[in-house]
Amino acid sequence: MYTSFINGLGHYVPENRVTNDDLSQWMETSDEWIRERTGIEERRFAVKGEDTTTSMGVKAAKVAIERSTVSKDDIDFIIFATLSPDYYFPGPGVLVQRDLEIGTVGALDVRNQCSGFVYALSVADQFIRSGMYKNILVIGSELHSHGLDMTTRGRSVSVIFGDGAGAAVVSRSDSDQSQILSSHLHSEGQHAEELALIAPGMGKRWVSDILADNDPNDVSYMPYMNGQFVFKHAVVRFAEVIHEGLSHNGLSTEDIDMLIPHQANLRIAQFIQKKFKLSDDQVHNNIMKYGNTTAASIPIALTEAWELGKIKRGDLVVLAAFGSGFTWGSVIMRF
Ligand code: UT7
Repeated sequence: MYTSFINGLGHYVPENRVTNDDLSQWMETSDEWIRERTGIEERRFAVKGEDTTTSMGVKAAKVAIERSTVSKDDIDFIIFATLSPDYYFPGPGVLVQRDLEIGTVGALDVRNQCSGFVYALSVADQFIRSGMYKNILVIGSELHSHGLDMTTRGRSVSVIFGDGAGAAVVSRSDSDQSQILSSHLHSEGQHAEELALIAPGMGKRWVSDILADNDPNDVSYMPYMNGQFVFKHAVVRFAEVIHEGLSHNGLSTEDIDMLIPHQANLRIAQFIQKKFKLSDDQVHNNIMKYGNTTAASIPIALTEAWELGKIKRGDLVVLAAFGSGFTWGSVIMRF
């Protein structure tokens, strides 16, 4: 049985910074409310026409490939996680294959929202374990800003999210010192509508219906989140799935060198840190600067932690995510 490791990491965020005070010009909110409830100070919003989910993913991917031991021509599969694709279909995976001019390798799109990168990494790990592929490009990228309700009506959702992308080259490992040890994935679809964007979709609403109705109060094409309900489930599931991963490997919370939690809300990350009695050096958060970037949040934070020297080869790194679906998961690795 082969194992896989993170061979290269990269991230990209748009230059355009949007502060909490900027948001308060468009909706009834305040810097104080946003900081207190979420920890967010600013986020990046892509400028229309300059960036797309795919283009940000490509930029992050180029950095990850450059920093890895392989070249783009060695990539033999692409996995792209996002909830904000450029097109309804095809997904961004094939657009990356086109833009990077990587042969005719397979491209898979993962739709698991905030858990998207953890799911994608797990899929990559399984393909490498089975021997099918050697080098897989895994991307998480989101362009939220163009799809948010920037009026007071949407404030409980819109102040949280930001744009950006992160990428990893996942390769076959030849060292016990550096390998993904396990991944654990879960879902609970009974809460699907508690954090969702219902339209456009074949099941309920299609764009032509929305346009025909021309109803300014129709929010089915805006993201909806039952914030407190999601929060309560998140803190429980984060803790459960981290424990599940650690105990599967005979490890405990003291063994963690770095926990990278999905950047959903700083209060959630702080709750988990306290529960597990982890020091500030054992958890990396950057939601203050980027907001919640959904599938991009873990690869952006992982890349940043590595760039800052907070993670080195052989460290025990734990990734954990929870979000829409509900879906959640963890990956335990020797970095
Ligand atoms: O990444 C996917 C997973 N997502 C999460 O894990 C998010 C989990 N949930 C949360 O992070 C929090 O629930 C939120 C940050 C989204 C909201 O915080 P909250 O403490 O749960 O606030 P709330 O929704 O209960 O709203 C409290 C009050 C309400 O006013 P009233 O009814 O008490 O008068 C809201 O209308 O705050 C009001 N409010 C706002 N006020 C200023 C809601 N959004 C805002 C806002 N600015 N942006």
